[in-house]
Amino acid sequence: MILEIPEVLTADELAQVRRRVESAEWADGRITAGHQGARVKDNQQIPAGHPAAQEAGPTILRALGRNPLFIAAALPHRILPPMFNRYAGGQQFGTHVDGSIRQLPDGTRLRTDLSCTLFLAGPEEYDGGELVIEDTYGAKSVKLPAGSMILYPSTSLHHVTPVTRGARLCSFFWLQSLVRDNHHRAMLFDMDIAIQRLGAEQPGHPSVVQLTGVYHNLIRTWAEL
Ligand code: NI
Repeated sequence: MILEIPEVLTADELAQVRRRVESAEWADGRITAGHQGARVKDNQQIPAGHPAAQEAGPTILRALGRNPLFIAAALPHRILPPMFNRYAGGQQFGTHVDGSIRQLPDGTRLRTDLSCTLFLAGPEEYDGGELVIEDTYGAKSVKLPAGSMILYPSTSLHHVTPVTRGARLCSFFWLQSLVRDNHHRAMLFDMDIAIQRLGAEQPGHPSVVQLTGVYHNLIRTWAEL
């Protein structure tokens, strides 16, 4: 499931995050790429642990924590601290798959189930820079308004097309979901949406509580903590 989460950041938060990361020193993005990724990656990143990332990252995590669509779709267990990248002057990132395991700052490891790209520059600010995700149903090209985020399975092959004008600024990070299997998680999300709709249209209908019970029992069956 590839899902757009609109307006993750408020206008104030977006301005605050941009101000902080735009003034940071940027480094070659290959520092965090694996062997295959480094061959096709050409962008800039803020090094992990840089004060700019440490200050802007929590603003993003707080915004996600209050976003019901994100929580319902991702069922997040552990989230990697947000990182930041920039593409300009023809930079691109060729087809790759994200590494399966990432290390958290405390030394523990996380399985990357979902990849997140939060757009910090608006589509009018640059040409190119589409994130193209290869799905079972074909390729999906993504370029979102500033402050909106795309959530997609980390198992997908994807690439970023060359930025031929302006600069594409994004935050990117990974998360381990409580529910590992993409199909299980997608079914839970559909069920959650259906229960909410039923509850809104037929408040007090006994099926709402029964279906909510099934939803939680499925999570109980599939969740890994
Ligand atoms: Ni990637």
